[in-house]
Amino acid sequence: MNDTPPLKSEGSRPEKLVYFPRSDGSRIPYKVYSSQAIYDLEQERIFRGPVWSFLGLEAEIPNAGDFKSTFVGDTPVVVTRNSDLSLSVWVNRCAHRGAKVCRAARGNTQMHVCVYHQWSYDTRGNLRGVPFRRGVKNSPGMPEDFDTKEHGMRQLRVDTYRGLIFATFSDAADSLYDYIGPQMRPGLDRMFHKPIVYLGCTRQYSNSNWKLYMENVRDGYHASLLHAFHSTFNLVRVGMKIYSTADENHGMHNWSKIFQTEDSSAGAAYKDNQVTSFKAGMHLEDESILENIQEYDEIVTNHIQPIFPQLVVMQIQNTLAVRQLLPKGPSNFELIFNFFGYEDDTPEMRHHRIKQANLVGPAGLISMEDTEATELVQVATASDGDDCSMADMGRDAPESEQMGSGITEYRIRRFWRGYQKLMGL
Ligand code: FES
Ligand SMILES: [Fe+2]
Repeated sequence: MNDTPPLKSEGSRPEKLVYFPRSDGSRIPYKVYSSQAIYDLEQERIFRGPVWSFLGLEAEIPNAGDFKSTFVGDTPVVVTRNSDLSLSVWVNRCAHRGAKVCRAARGNTQMHVCVYHQWSYDTRGNLRGVPFRRGVKNSPGMPEDFDTKEHGMRQLRVDTYRGLIFATFSDAADSLYDYIGPQMRPGLDRMFHKPIVYLGCTRQYSNSNWKLYMENVRDGYHASLLHAFHSTFNLVRVGMKIYSTADENHGMHNWSKIFQTEDSSAGAAYKDNQVTSFKAGMHLEDESILENIQEYDEIVTNHIQPIFPQLVVMQIQNTLAVRQLLPKGPSNFELIFNFFGYEDDTPEMRHHRIKQANLVGPAGLISMEDTEATELVQVATASDGDDCSMADMGRDAPESEQMGSGITEYRIRRFWRGYQKLMGL
């Protein structure tokens, strides 16, 4: 890459890293998708900055001693359930020589022991044991002034909203309640209005930048054009009633909700526009995978709600999931779909949700195409970093909370404006 040196060595001049030619978020320099220097700055200003990162569901770790390994940005952390059922989050790095302490993805234990020299920590990350601390025979052991209380693993602020677990490195971050904000809370209240059960997860890697996925989940324009299932089977079509909003605080959380609508034209708009992903003659032998059994006040086909930076809450028909997005360098990310149902689901509904999970995830009949699309952008934008992609669709329309067509890129523009502010670019 031809980046100027990273910010740290230059004092405070991040604007040299990248130049956004318009202030409205509609021009995105390609460099932001592949620059190592920008990636490093994101880790500092976003993931270790004043944001709350989503780590998992309380339902994943219900019992005392349960734990889950995950990440805040690219920093490995562990979420644990303490004996009093409170939650802790700590950086998964031994206070001795920096080894990764917890090596399991999930499990249950009261003590986390580092294999390197067997230092042991409780569920809160406090140091409890140091072998040979008092010495043996001719060795004096650790110095007199060594205090285990000063050598725990780094602990993060942790909080929950409706059973969703978040953590932050920042003491300056708003409360989680305010961070989620009044525009977004109703969406989470809708999805988590009663107790849930965790059903399992899928994991996948994409050879593309994490922000391309952040754009994708804010991109109403692509939904019925990229995804053959959406347009062909009338899951999402232009003309459907859509509610969408962005949070008023920083604009980086969004929510769109698409209402199921019959289309008496049988997809005429797609035929007229010669949309190749619309398959007029295609049908399924068994259509039950598409079924939307009504379970809320309104019949919604898609509820997609990214809570910046690591969470996307989704309902597609009766499939419920929280997607966790984890950056893995400038041109890779990991995407985890954590599926859930409600505790009071009938066995039939539970079976239906699990079958319908085939719409999403790594080989999902719908969502396989999203990571393919982000990789197409990644590979074609790796050079000419000062050139820009554009997001002008619907630019002349007002940006406030709206009911209307999904054919807009305003949520992408809001994202990039918030990103520039947070990054100091
Ligand atoms: S690095 Fe963990 S005990 Fe030494
Ligand atoms: Fe998509």
